Amino acid sequence: MDVETLQALQLRRLQWTLRHAYANVPFYTKRFDELGVVPEDCRSLSDLVHFPLTTKQDLRDNYPFGMFAVPSERIARVHASSGTTGEPTVVAYTEEDLSTWAGLVARSIRAAGGRPGHKVHISYGYGLFTGGLGAHYGAERLGCTVIPASGGMTARQVKIIDDFRPDVIMATPSYMLTLIDEFERQGIDPRASSLKVGIFGAEPWSEAMRHEIEERMGIEALDTYGLSEVMGPGVAQECLETKDGPHVWEDHFIPEVIDPVTMAAVPDGTRGELVFTSLTKQAFPIIRYRTRDLSALLPGTARPSFHRIARVSGRSDDMIVLRGVNLFPSQIEEAILCNDQLSPHYQLVRRRNGRMDTLTVRVEGKDIESVEAQSHAARSLQANIKDSVGVTVDVDVLPKHSLRRSEGKIQRIVDERSN
Ligand code: DLL
Repeated sequence: MDVETLQALQLRRLQWTLRHAYANVPFYTKRFDELGVVPEDCRSLSDLVHFPLTTKQDLRDNYPFGMFAVPSERIARVHASSGTTGEPTVVAYTEEDLSTWAGLVARSIRAAGGRPGHKVHISYGYGLFTGGLGAHYGAERLGCTVIPASGGMTARQVKIIDDFRPDVIMATPSYMLTLIDEFERQGIDPRASSLKVGIFGAEPWSEAMRHEIEERMGIEALDTYGLSEVMGPGVAQECLETKDGPHVWEDHFIPEVIDPVTMAAVPDGTRGELVFTSLTKQAFPIIRYRTRDLSALLPGTARPSFHRIARVSGRSDDMIVLRGVNLFPSQIEEAILCNDQLSPHYQLVRRRNGRMDTLTVRVEGKDIESVEAQSHAARSLQANIKDSVGVTVDVDVLPKHSLRRSEGKIQRIVDERSN
């Protein structure tokens, strides 16, 4: 689709969404009225900025069903966000929304290199989380054979992959590492598996982690981005041809990037908070939703009419401010993976020592069991983090298998400051 056709479609869909939300969701009626805007004020795409932003707190205030825009008998399914902090947020889909969603995930799998006839092994959790069922219906829509493994029972998943010979795997990157370790534990060479493509998302990961997974598994590893409030997986997908960040499916979602303090739009290429507006959703239209995810808008490449987003470095909530320096777990991950004595299994522990916050990186060593070798690797990682991030952290190098393995979305940060 050329850009003019795309923008005309977006405007038509945006005007419909604004009318639909204003007429059917009391929350939006009240917000628009307070700001003195009506849907008819949207005459061009640039008018979107005059409409109010929506936050996670707004969704919580309307828990569980207050944001739904259609009568309950038209709701075909609900999902809920992972709710790592506080009340979960509930989202809803009509029959038609489920079909749109399946279409977008099918498009995403295809952009990642999946094709009709491929076998797709799905290790995202099935349930209220959008990952499992979202991937499932998308893979079916593309015409693939679906293996609905869900998360967990890792030894059995390895056997299934070995026996059923899937072409594509969809999982969180941290769970893919758990699977790779299990392949090795069972004495099966992961590189010899039938898998060709992995579609990984639902949590932040780094370029170094991509490299680690590609090398150890012998596959192409692609980034996929989405969130339940906006739809689930299938909002943005990295393309196999370029592997340079996810393209946003802009015929269904309008992305913006704002400065989280001033709320003003930042220029393309500048990092800020991602904001999304849905264009086709019936049950749960969402207007200018503040994701708290930090990224930047970049020009399209493999799909030139659509913007890309830069790899999401993390949520603003996961940003650690340590003695005035802002850092994300993914930066520590990059430093760990530069060191071939260290494994990609790590955890960050925040503690308070008097009035000073400290950060301890707990990371498993690779075949280094002696105390001297471990403390040597620890000092080397500490120096590397000091160099690349600019802050001193404590490092504990642990024996193999000391840390719990991920079965889905991993929680990297352990906060012990209130203990
Ligand atoms: O994680 C939907 C999803 C499922 C996406 C499967 C991709 C694959 P939520 O549980 O609502 O939905 O969590 C959404 O996860 O706001 C980001 O903070 C994070 N996230 C998702 N994809 C990525 C990614 C699903 N590729 C939240 N990179 C989002 C970094 C990601 N963070």
